[in-house]
Amino acid sequence: MSPTAPRTGPGTSRAPYGSAEVDPRQATEPILALNNVEVIYDEVILVLRGLSMSVAEGRIVALLGSNGAGKSTTLKAISGLLPTEDGEVSDGSITYQGRDITHTDAATIVRDGISQVMEGRRVFEHLSVHENLLAGGYTRSHGEHADDLDRIYTYFPRLADRRSQTAGYLSGGEQQMLAIGRALMAHPRLMTLDEPSLGLAPLLVEEIFSIIGRLNDELGTTILLVEQNARLALDIADHAYVMESGRIVLDGPAAELAANPDVQEFYLGLTEEGARRSYRDVKHYKRRKRWL
Ligand SMILES: Nc1ncnc2c1ncn2[C@@H]1O[C@H](COP(=O)(O)OP(=O)(O)OP(=O)(O)O)[C@@H](O)[C@H]1O
Ligand SMILES: [Mg+2]
Repeated sequence: MSPTAPRTGPGTSRAPYGSAEVDPRQATEPILALNNVEVIYDEVILVLRGLSMSVAEGRIVALLGSNGAGKSTTLKAISGLLPTEDGEVSDGSITYQGRDITHTDAATIVRDGISQVMEGRRVFEHLSVHENLLAGGYTRSHGEHADDLDRIYTYFPRLADRRSQTAGYLSGGEQQMLAIGRALMAHPRLMTLDEPSLGLAPLLVEEIFSIIGRLNDELGTTILLVEQNARLALDIADHAYVMESGRIVLDGPAAELAANPDVQEFYLGLTEEGARRSYRDVKHYKRRKRWL
């Protein structure tokens, strides 16, 4: 789980959107590693308490956890967004492509190849779909935009049909697609997504997850996915982490986690017999989780 040895700096030899041909020897080396990361907000509120995890290049990694566990905080720490919320990494380190990015500013991190799709599908509501995408490409030169836009419209035909429409009038699912499209404009090697399924109808969620799978498969984009919908996340992911109260409590291949009785009970809503339980039943069921 040790981070990769420093190579040439990120950005110097960056292929568009990461490389679809991932060298099998490198496929298991982490592109991103968090080592005992602590995060505090407002100088006193300790939220991440020594969180360690790593993401192998070319993979899809899911980060699961209940409300308030610190999932969004983890993504903000990676993207350099904590200072905007009076938060900071107070201990530990974050390395990307073998290089320390713990205190790197958000704009540099995007330039280096990490794009975050924030929770709540943030789009510029008063701008058109097209203008929103162009805004996402600010790190690239103008000459590169046309190809990028074409590519994004191929992945999201719904956006192509609505390219001149004001983003604020798009449906929730279309706004989520736009938020992902905008992140893609920066040619990320690593894309982090914070609850892309939140509040969307099942069919749209399916569509968005299938596109996330294709981005990983066809463009070689490494994905770090935060999801409340553990079933979907474990379906699409190669590896998964479960966090509680600011720490990782369990990790493993996604298929292994999906078969873990505690994960089934607390995240997939299944009892050991395989029957569905209601949330209320789970809440009143006092057996301790085995990982605690
Ligand atoms: N800007 C902030 N200032 C102070 N405390 C914060 C701030 N942001 C988050 N927190 C606290 O940090 C803890 C973790 O929040 P975070 O948003 O990272 O959790 P989460 O796992 O993403 O939860 P959810 O599933 O509800 O999105 C919570 O207790 C929250 O109240
Ligand atoms: Mg969150």
